[in-house]
Amino acid sequence: MGSPASVEIIEVGTRDGLQMEPVFVDTKTKIELINGLTGAGIRHIEATSFVSPRAVPQLKDAADVLAGINRPAGSIFSVLTPNTKGVERAIAAKADEIIVFLSGSESHNQKNLNRSIDRSLEDVSAIAQCVEGVEIQKKGAIACSFGCPFEGDVELDTLKRIAGHFHSAGFRSLTLGDTTGMATPGLVERTVSALRDAFPEMRLTLHFHNTRGIGLVNVVAGLNAGVDSYESSLGGLGGCPFAPGASGNICTEDLVYLLNEMGIDTGIDLGRLIDVALRMEAVLGRSLPGQVMKAGPRSRLHEYESALRATG
Ligand code: COA
Ligand code: ZN
Repeated sequence: MGSPASVEIIEVGTRDGLQMEPVFVDTKTKIELINGLTGAGIRHIEATSFVSPRAVPQLKDAADVLAGINRPAGSIFSVLTPNTKGVERAIAAKADEIIVFLSGSESHNQKNLNRSIDRSLEDVSAIAQCVEGVEIQKKGAIACSFGCPFEGDVELDTLKRIAGHFHSAGFRSLTLGDTTGMATPGLVERTVSALRDAFPEMRLTLHFHNTRGIGLVNVVAGLNAGVDSYESSLGGLGGCPFAPGASGNICTEDLVYLLNEMGIDTGIDLGRLIDVALRMEAVLGRSLPGQVMKAGPRSRLHEYESALRATG
């Protein structure tokens, strides 16, 4: 299958990125960062989570963030919601899309959501009922789709069972999350093809972390498998507080750069995006993993006279 001509990038930096930060980033700064992202042309942003504020204090201001941001025409602001309480809060805050998540592994689901997979699947059904007749999009997400830090491999049959439950509950889009960077290119192609065969009408999004340095390689595998939707994080920030060893998502600027160079359209202005990533670095007061934000695109050249010359 050939690569798609255009790709949707879903920015998750203010959700996946900030959820693990030790310092609370204030609401005004979160709003400024999100407005910077839409200013750079990003039209789909997973802005925050409506989860327990005790579990993820960094995102306790979810409703205020949604209330304060600019919403350019055609933009979609998604939020993570694990249960009906989160969904009710998301509807009240006028989110465009809820992302209903659980894990492909029992142990990670217990750590992350304090319940079994079966109990989470009951929550999926309850949520589907809760949004019936409400004008809000719904998407499923399976964390640890490509491996679990406690259990190792996750069976394809488990993914199919969870995807099937989402499908029966009326979900038609699904994110496969690689929470701790355990995906590899072959595994990505096999998983995508198995899920696509089982649920051809389900739109798939891939969510990779660069924990083992092959996040963008996995994107190329996803492109080869025909997937046209990817989640990534500004500056490569990110990680799940309830998964040992979790580290940053694939970096949005690096992903945009890669896709630009492959001739795949994203609608995003790379220069403006780099400015927002630099702002995120300044906010957090440390260097982020993103690489194109440091080196610039390959079109950024250097003054010949300013470089050292090696003389023996
Ligand atoms: N928003 C706000 N508060 C919520 C909530 C939500 N979506 N869901 C539950 N709560 C509150 C309850 O009202 C209750 O509060 P109280 O003690 O003041 O009465 C408290 O949280 C416990 O509720 P309970 O239903 O027993 O939840 P729990 O303790 O079993 O935790 C989750 C379950 C799902 C709420 C919690 O594990 C969670 O928020 N996990 C999210 C993890 C996450 O975001 N991970 C990163 C993304 S991969
Ligand atoms: Zn993630």
